[in-house]
Amino acid sequence: MAPHFLIRGGRQLSGAVRVGGMKNAALPILFALLLVRDEVVLENLPPVTDIETTLQILCQMGAELTRISPTAIRINTKNADPDAVPLNLTTELRASAYLLGAGLGRFGRATTGLPGGCDFGARPLDQHFRLLEALGAVIAPEENLLCASAPGGLRGAKLRLDFPSVGATVNGILAAALAEGTTIISGAAREPHIVDLANFLNACGAQIAGAGTSTIRIDGVSRLHGTRYRIIPDMIEAGTYLCAVCGTGGGLRLDDICPAHLDPVLLPLRKMGAEIAVSESHLTAKRTGALYGTVLETAPYPGFPTDMQPQFAPLLCLSRGGGRIYERVWNSRFQYTAELERMGGRILPGKDFADFPGGDRLTGARVRATDLRGGAALVIAGLCAEGMTELYDIRHIERGYPQLVEKLTAIGAEIACGND
Ligand code: EPZ
Repeated sequence: MAPHFLIRGGRQLSGAVRVGGMKNAALPILFALLLVRDEVVLENLPPVTDIETTLQILCQMGAELTRISPTAIRINTKNADPDAVPLNLTTELRASAYLLGAGLGRFGRATTGLPGGCDFGARPLDQHFRLLEALGAVIAPEENLLCASAPGGLRGAKLRLDFPSVGATVNGILAAALAEGTTIISGAAREPHIVDLANFLNACGAQIAGAGTSTIRIDGVSRLHGTRYRIIPDMIEAGTYLCAVCGTGGGLRLDDICPAHLDPVLLPLRKMGAEIAVSESHLTAKRTGALYGTVLETAPYPGFPTDMQPQFAPLLCLSRGGGRIYERVWNSRFQYTAELERMGGRILPGKDFADFPGGDRLTGARVRATDLRGGAALVIAGLCAEGMTELYDIRHIERGYPQLVEKLTAIGAEIACGND
């Protein structure tokens, strides 16, 4: 049995999409729950498999969970047990590395399996370790396991990251929130999900300032209390639908978005020919004229997001004039291009970039998702292609896109889930 998407391309998209909560904001907040021995209500959780896996990890550790709706939970980790971490589940996602910071903060120790997630070549954790060690942790990587302890307790420290790593910044905040004294992280990641984590913890009584800038100050507090919190909208899900409509032509309204987070994506879409009108919580986008090429270069926020570069690739294939994508965050994030080539895309690989001559005709083919966003790129390619695309290994896509088939069908796409 191999679940797959069947996509008949060539239909323009039109209608409205409600954007869900941001997976990469929800994951650190879910692990941060370990620091709060009290009841928390979380709203706008995206119903995707990475979130489900994380909830299972927390429940197997002893968290009490009530589902209020498909996107809201009530949860209390007061009885969580650090020795009950289901190691087999932690290897399924990258965010399980957040168990280190959260476990150290709550229990003074943590164990997790080697974090999994999308394969972009080497995904080191050295910046996470530097931060946690500066706070007093001892990390002992064993075969297939990461063990951390803080024999003398965690104490505030000052540290500059070599690269604004999202994960290391999250782990530093988690470990420092309940540590003794003040922690200052400079060279920190500035992504909206870092701000969301700080806002959540502050709503629970933490003292975190500067999130969203490259210097974050955390004054440790002795305890955190429960709260009700709504996760921010997913800028990557929103950007993915914008690329889809820019590729197929037509017009779309996106509801429940945070427009400021989308600026780095709207800029290139406008250059490529999309007409976009933004208001406070929604936007409309249409493309009725030609699709033009452009050059994209990924960078940490507020630069153009690496998590959006694959979705632009089919557009560059179809565009007049083509373009280039420089990948500056990950050293291996072009695996999906081999699949796009099966659909007729011409892509010329370089050292840390890919060239797209443009003017291609995409045709349906049997392809597979190599990773989450690469899979989304192939969905977009399928929607723009002539004929039928069969897209396999969709488990990667289901990690991050809630109700993709339903949402696309509602805006006129011909897409179904098959199982053979
Ligand atoms: C987060 O991964 C996201 N994942 C990724 O999104 C995203 O691509 C990435 O940030 C960059 O924006 C989650 O939030 C769960 P990083 P993360 O640490 O935290 C190097 C998606 O599609 N680095 O900012 O793992 C690293 O090798 C996923 O939703 C070190 O050298 O990313 C990379 O080159 C895929 N040492 C760069 O930093 C370290 O200790 C960025 O990594 C840590 C990272």
